[in-house]
Amino acid sequence: MSRIYKIAIDGPSGVGKSTLAKGLAKELGFVYVDTGAIYRTVGLYAQYNEIDPHDEEGLSAHFGKIDIELKWEDGAQHVYLCGKDVSEEIRTPKSSMYASAVSALPKVRAFLLDMQRSIASKTSVIMDGRDIGTVILPDADVKIFMSADEVSRAKRRYKELCEKGQTVSFDEVLSDMKQRDFNDSTRSAAPLKPAEDAVMFDNTELDIAQTIEAAKKIITEKIGNEL
Ligand code: DC
Repeated sequence: MSRIYKIAIDGPSGVGKSTLAKGLAKELGFVYVDTGAIYRTVGLYAQYNEIDPHDEEGLSAHFGKIDIELKWEDGAQHVYLCGKDVSEEIRTPKSSMYASAVSALPKVRAFLLDMQRSIASKTSVIMDGRDIGTVILPDADVKIFMSADEVSRAKRRYKELCEKGQTVSFDEVLSDMKQRDFNDSTRSAAPLKPAEDAVMFDNTELDIAQTIEAAKKIITEKIGNEL
């Protein structure tokens, strides 16, 4: 590979961004960056320290102490908060709601911007999130905006949480998802929306293998077979 490539994947929760991005990263030999994990970690910090996740001033006063590090171990991204691996802990339904709340704060987004851009400046990445194509990597080589119908997404997320041993009801997952979609797409700071040059990709009817194949086609159409 002669140069660094940037692939941006955005879309709502439960649409399969991380499954797709992980699969593609493995095939292409790129680093997969899950940016949601970074917001989740800031949310976890707020949880630990009993800070209201809507309190921008209160939370930003702590930025000097919020030490977040991403590491890739055995091919998987791990996120560390002040030296502790919190990769599992950030996945609870409560952490999801905290992440959605803190991610609406402009100061939090500004705080995390350089970290995300700096990773993408060093190596070829597939980065997933909500504003990768619009704000973080506006110069990405390929931008994919994923969607799928709400109930299918909630079913996928429910299955994932059950497999992790968490006790949740389907209705709870669906209503949390609706709430987060609403928060993430109506906030004023970097709302979830497709970049003008994003390729729209609905995978409601596709399984994982089909989703990866379809995305590979989009990538090849954009940048040819040079990878
Ligand atoms: O992708 P996820 O569900 O792990 O993300 C958790 C929350 O973080 C999500 O509700 C919105 C926010 N987020 C964001 O605002 N921007 C990103 N690039 C990634 C996530």
